[in-house]
Amino acid sequence: KQWKVAVVGATGAVGREMLKTLEQREFPCEVTPFSSSRSAGSKVPFRDGELTVKELKEDSFKGFDLALFSAGGGTSLKFAPLAAQQGCVVVDNSSAWRMDPKIPLVVPEVNAHDLEWHPGIIANPNCSTIQMVVVLKPLHDVATIKRVVVSTYQAVSGTGQKAIVELENQVRRLMSGHEANPEVYPHQIAFNCLPQIDVFLENEYTKEEMKMVHETQKIMGDDSIKVTATAVRVPVFYGHSESVNVEFEKPITPQGARAILSQAPGVRVFDNPSEKIYPMAIVAAGEDDTFVGRIRKDETIDNGLNMWIVADNIRKGAALNAVQIAEELVRRELLRVKK
Ligand code: A2P
Repeated sequence: KQWKVAVVGATGAVGREMLKTLEQREFPCEVTPFSSSRSAGSKVPFRDGELTVKELKEDSFKGFDLALFSAGGGTSLKFAPLAAQQGCVVVDNSSAWRMDPKIPLVVPEVNAHDLEWHPGIIANPNCSTIQMVVVLKPLHDVATIKRVVVSTYQAVSGTGQKAIVELENQVRRLMSGHEANPEVYPHQIAFNCLPQIDVFLENEYTKEEMKMVHETQKIMGDDSIKVTATAVRVPVFYGHSESVNVEFEKPITPQGARAILSQAPGVRVFDNPSEKIYPMAIVAAGEDDTFVGRIRKDETIDNGLNMWIVADNIRKGAALNAVQIAEELVRRELLRVKK
């Protein structure tokens, strides 16, 4: 069967990658790209040719089986329910629906079973959360996680196309003696690290940091896992890195963790310090796997490990995870909206 697929936000950083991922994984489909009126009529590359982008409208979803959304929370809030009403299943990359208890939040390697109760919308988690839970779940299954302390080093592509352009331009401007002129970020991002991603909340954490807390618990299906996060934007184009400290209930050695992770779906153990082998953004960029390395004992507590986790935030952190959800929906015969 050729599924009729809408890609909403097809001109954006994630939307373009969604088109590429559908093509590379040979998802059996006929694709229509949508955007706002701003870039309607423009072309996006797909397979051997190009597709003309259409303006997203309220009745756009008639006859579609699946819509992959990555056009911001406002667009998702308004259009995802309209799509589902028109019989089109939505996989939504925004944060709009993630914490709604009626909407499954899915990383296929971790909780594909949650797709069984989808009501027509499925949420794709935050990029930093996806790569972390892919690694944590297999360890949780054997040693039970008590607490996670994570610091992120996040690439600008997570903010979208305009942030990629901002970093490029700032590097050029600063190297030729001009001012940085930040527009997308509150401060200069070139040659700098920003300990603010998204807005600050009442508890003095950022929204990005609290997403990692709540989304991890929902995906892992365990609210007892304590998570504390510091999310930092760094001048990297593609690939989020994370320093992750984990405290377990039960003993687990670095060798044991490496053995478990080398069997885990979607995970690549990249951990040989004597050969200077460890995950880096430039290694993970363009790859599907989540890379883990620098696995070592936390010598300050019982049953603690430190590790360094890196993945391509646009692929596993967004587009690839969404397409994997679509593949799993097909496999489970769930690519339909229950009446
Ligand atoms: P457009 O190109 O018309 O602005 P990014 O995250 O890289 O900034 O991309 C955001 C994507 O979401 C773009 O494809 C953008 O389209 C799309 N988008 C933004 N607002 C809307 C909207 N109201 N309706 C449809 N698509 C939208």
